[in-house]
Amino acid sequence: MQDDLERVLFDEGTILTRLDEMAAQISEDYRDRELTVIAVLNGGTKTTGEVVFKQIALPEVAGRHILILDDILDSGLTLSAIRRKLEIARPKSIKVCVLLKKRIERLAPIEADYVGFEIGNEFVVGYGLDYMERYRNLPCVGVLRKELIAA
Ligand code: XMP
Repeated sequence: MQDDLERVLFDEGTILTRLDEMAAQISEDYRDRELTVIAVLNGGTKTTGEVVFKQIALPEVAGRHILILDDILDSGLTLSAIRRKLEIARPKSIKVCVLLKKRIERLAPIEADYVGFEIGNEFVVGYGLDYMERYRNLPCVGVLRKELIAA
């Protein structure tokens, strides 16, 4: 499966080291505050750019410090929609943490407060990121070979 990668960007050791650094930074920043972490399990952006929430109820966030965790900040449509939805419930603060951030112009106004790695405008897979439900279990993040991506 690793043969389907054009190249590896971050191997497992590099990712684990960076995750430890980010965890330490977040622990330090929220030392005296209780933190509620909301992990986005599936981006859920349709090709139209509309974000559909399949979860029936959002967690109770009023008055809490929220950290939204996602795999990648790409167009920003997903995280921006989630943030707007959470803001309605009046949390005390909202920050965003992503493993990867693409260096591109966003389609929606959102930036991340904690970023594992910045990458170029390439389609990446592995370490939880999938292409058509494949490659999610790769222990590294890499660029998928272009010929494997449906036109
Ligand atoms: P945006 O920021 O565009 O991201 O709303 C929505 C979701 O799309 C997925 N995504 C990717 N998945 N490689 C992937 O495997 C990529 O390069 C990529 N870019 C976006 C991801 O689930 C994200 O949460």
